[in-house]
Amino acid sequence: MDFEHVLVVGAGQMGGGIAQVVAASGRRVSLYDALPGATERGLAAMRKSLERLAEKGGADPDEVLARVAAVDALVPADLMIEAVVEDAAVKEDLFRRADGILPDGAILASNTSSIPITSLAAVTDRPDRVIGMHFFNPVPVLKLVEVIRALQTSDETAAAITKLAEDLGKVPAHVNDFPGFVSNRILMPFINEAAYAVLEGVAEPEAIDTIAKLGFAHPMGPLALADLIGLDTCVAIMDVLHEGLGNPKYAPCPLLSQYVHAGRLGRKSGRGFYTY
Ligand SMILES: NC(=O)c1ccc[n+]([C@@H]2O[C@H](COP(=O)([O-])OP(=O)(O)OC[C@H]3O[C@@H](n4cnc5c(N)ncnc54)[C@H](O)[C@@H]3O)[C@@H](O)[C@H]2O)c1
Repeated sequence: MDFEHVLVVGAGQMGGGIAQVVAASGRRVSLYDALPGATERGLAAMRKSLERLAEKGGADPDEVLARVAAVDALVPADLMIEAVVEDAAVKEDLFRRADGILPDGAILASNTSSIPITSLAAVTDRPDRVIGMHFFNPVPVLKLVEVIRALQTSDETAAAITKLAEDLGKVPAHVNDFPGFVSNRILMPFINEAAYAVLEGVAEPEAIDTIAKLGFAHPMGPLALADLIGLDTCVAIMDVLHEGLGNPKYAPCPLLSQYVHAGRLGRKSGRGFYTY
């Protein structure tokens, strides 16, 4: 099996989900987070998710979790998938350090929602083995993986990551390296417009989300989705779109920024557009 040992960096909602699907595929996972206690919280969330899936016939949670080890530093592996905070400087620093620790042949992948893969590749000595592997939240449930090729990514790297995504039970969609790629270039203006509708008093969040659910047949409304993604992550993505594409239409709605400044980050902090 390719990529027998995968290092997942960041044990938040995405890193935990990625570690879970990689371990469920039979691979060994090392899970690292810089924040004390974060890997333990990530492992607890994985157990809950695995128990729910086991009720529907999914794998034995103990068996899957036995393949995941919490580690307190970056360790050598065949592949790194990083899901740390959406901040270019933090990710570049991580790619620089990982480049010195993972063996030469290993691939370094980012789950970034918007940060250019080309600039992450550029800080390493293996730019041909750097790629975007963008999962969707919740990772164990949603089938899509956006596979993003940096300018420098080799055909071999793209092929290996495409095969891995399929092996994890996902459907890869190939996109080029532009700010926000495809998914967030389309999704974030939708969320932003919904936030403006709240700010301008057009409707309450519940009404806006009901319109999207029942009128457009979306499984969840844009504001509930923004709360799930994390309002801090949404604002960070919109900042990258705004700066990278140079178009003011991508600037985050002031209400979103205000919520983030107030610590209302969505589900992960207990309150965003809704209270949890
Ligand atoms: N939330 C979503 O719906 C979603 C979807 C797709 C992609 N993403 C992307 O996934 C990444 C993570 O998002 P998330 O929602 O899981 O965030 P999160 O806030 O839940 O988790 C981020 C984790 O990264 C850790 N971290 C920060 N800096 C670190 C470092 N230098 N080294 C190791 N760990 C570090 C934090 O302690 C935290 O546990 C972001 O790049 C985001 O854009 C998010």
